[in-house]
Amino acid sequence: MPERLTETLMDLWTPLIILWITLPSCVYTAPMNQAHVLTTGSPLELSRQSEDMRILSRSKRGWVWNQMFVLEEFSGPEPILVGRLHTDLDPGSKKIKYILSGDGAGTIFQINDITGDIHAIKRLDREEKAEYTLTAQAVDFETNKPLEPPSEFIIKVQDINDNAPEFLNGPYHATVPEMSILGTSVTNVTATDADDPVYGNSAKLVYSILEGQPYFSIEPETAIIKTALPNMDREAKEEYLVVIQAKDMGGHSGGLSGTTTLTVTLTDVNDNPPKFAQSLYHFSVPEDVVLGTAIGRVKANDQDIGENAQSSYDIIDGDGTALFEITSDAQAQDGVIRLRKPLDFETKKSYTLKVEAANIHIDPRFSSRGPFKDTATVKIVVEDADEPPVFSSPTYLLEVHENAALNSVIGQVTARDPDITSSPIRFSIDRHTDLERQFNINADDGKITLATPLDRELSVWHNITIIATEIRNHSQISRVPVAIKVLDVNDNAPEFASEYEAFLCENGKPGQVIQTVSAMDKDDPKNGHFFLYSLLPEMVNNPNFTIKKNEDNSLSILAKHNGFNRQKQEVYLLPIVISDSGNPPLSSTSTLTIRVCGCSNDGVVQSCNVEAYVLPIGLSMGALIAILACIILLLVIVVLFVTLRRHKNEPLIIKDDEDVRENIIRYDDEGGGEEDTEAFDIATLQNPDGINGFLPRWGLPTQRWEERNAIQTGCV
Ligand SMILES: *[C@@H]1O[C@H](CO)[C@@H](O)[C@H](O)[C@H]1NC(C)=O
Ligand SMILES: *[C@@H]1O[C@H](CO)[C@@H](O)[C@H](O)[C@H]1NC(C)=O
Repeated sequence: MPERLTETLMDLWTPLIILWITLPSCVYTAPMNQAHVLTTGSPLELSRQSEDMRILSRSKRGWVWNQMFVLEEFSGPEPILVGRLHTDLDPGSKKIKYILSGDGAGTIFQINDITGDIHAIKRLDREEKAEYTLTAQAVDFETNKPLEPPSEFIIKVQDINDNAPEFLNGPYHATVPEMSILGTSVTNVTATDADDPVYGNSAKLVYSILEGQPYFSIEPETAIIKTALPNMDREAKEEYLVVIQAKDMGGHSGGLSGTTTLTVTLTDVNDNPPKFAQSLYHFSVPEDVVLGTAIGRVKANDQDIGENAQSSYDIIDGDGTALFEITSDAQAQDGVIRLRKPLDFETKKSYTLKVEAANIHIDPRFSSRGPFKDTATVKIVVEDADEPPVFSSPTYLLEVHENAALNSVIGQVTARDPDITSSPIRFSIDRHTDLERQFNINADDGKITLATPLDRELSVWHNITIIATEIRNHSQISRVPVAIKVLDVNDNAPEFASEYEAFLCENGKPGQVIQTVSAMDKDDPKNGHFFLYSLLPEMVNNPNFTIKKNEDNSLSILAKHNGFNRQKQEVYLLPIVISDSGNPPLSSTSTLTIRVCGCSNDGVVQSCNVEAYVLPIGLSMGALIAILACIILLLVIVVLFVTLRRHKNEPLIIKDDEDVRENIIRYDDEGGGEEDTEAFDIATLQNPDGINGFLPRWGLPTQRWEERNAIQTGCV
């Protein structure tokens, strides 16, 4: 077995450099030393150490042979020997020289080129550089010719416990709810140690608490901090300072240590009920305070903070629950008592309320500690205030007949001073609401009288404002609206609803309806209008016309016979008496003008007499004169023309006025003559636009009408 291993090693290590390591026994006696010694290619050395190799080859496969170890931080008087290079080449006649190159060769590591001893000439720090890679070579001392290929090996720096644990993230802050159970995890901390974590215990840390007991504990290995007391009370102590130590070497004496601080803050839970600062509050308030005004504040203190201290306030009892309300002010955490309904000192002078403050956010864990609410009593005293007069009604509606006598009383307003002193009141009318001074008011008793006559037909409503003023304090004023409605009296007689123009056909039959008229009355009787029509007493037996009342309050005028003739009488005037149904009734006489006209067989009016027409209303004097002048001129021309023609029996040519002539000639062509009123209707000229609506009823041919227009244009 040793032989086989030797052969294997020989195959692996042909360059045959022997690394023989001498370790200073005073510094280091680690068990791993054995492995370092097993650095051999020499059959002699191997046979000497085969026993160790055998053991190690069993216990640890793949061991690395080509490395040396040097202890960090070594600072003795002499450079420390790291190891020795050795080759088993037969030195024979030649002298061998060892050459070292690579990391730190010559600067950190020096080699004795004859003996092969390697020394570290500088102090090494594993935490700075843990290993160095170097190359060794054996050369001929004289020729410097390599005797074998270069061989690489590693010098590892051996750790010593030269670094203390450090809390890199400290100091720490953590929170834990108050009233937590024992062993509640708060946080954990971590220390780091720069020493080799895989070698020795230099980096094996153990945690402990130096300060902060008995409130907190720490798990030595995991550094988890937990509460060590149950039910710690934030309201008693809110903040704790914990000093934590980490010690290496597994916590054994001689190890290095580091500390940090942890500040633990207890967070609030709702473990305290609200408590009113006073069990009785006194407030006073003037009776005339505006609704919604804050009257007072009540506050229940709560040792908790934040939402755990929030309470809602309520009025739960008392004789003023309808008049007052309480609102919770989340900001100030108090309750504001406000007025909801008007107070009246004269009715009730004090109120008592029972108010309650109840925590909003209850923690069920503590609800067994009792109700998280409190009550207090609030006494509110109402103070008297000087109040303005109060009218017996917020508004008044008065009615008065339009024929009421001047100074007659229309109605009365009353008002009183609600105060105990009860000042007398004086009344006045706000003249801005009665600009025409239609009414007066008795300043003492509030009786409203009529100052000027009323007319319902002018104004139905007179809405005025009455002012009441306290005599003892003129600044105490109230106003009230008074609506005065004017009631109707039958003071207007009925009359024709419009200006009627009646026409009667010469060829009409007896009993024909000439015109239907209706009446109107400015008054407004309750049951509507009912009119009575009659002929004047002296005309009751009028031989020419009769009247007939219709269902709809209108009246029809009928012809009594058919013997009407324009030649005999062109116009009839028919006075009609109309009376209303008022009490007493009023009546008036309206006269209907009836013109006799020539009509077609089917009763269409074709021509009425000239004189029957009234000049159109609305023309200016100048226009009328111009029209008249025009008519006279035309008449003269026509008469002249007709006369001349009869005498000479030939057309007359008027050289100076051809336009007029042409038109006249055409009329003449149709027959002409003084009797021909249809062909030459002067009324048409006077009223060419048919303002009175006559023209369409004449049924004149359109052509004729246009020609007449032309005549008028040419003349005027
Ligand atoms: C006056 O008051 C009455 C009743 O309030 C109302 O009906 C009427 O419209 C008012 N008239 C005027 C002109 O304001
Ligand atoms: C009735 O008509 C005739 C002529 O047609 C007239 O003389 C008489 O005065 C008229 N009577 C009345 C009352 O209008």
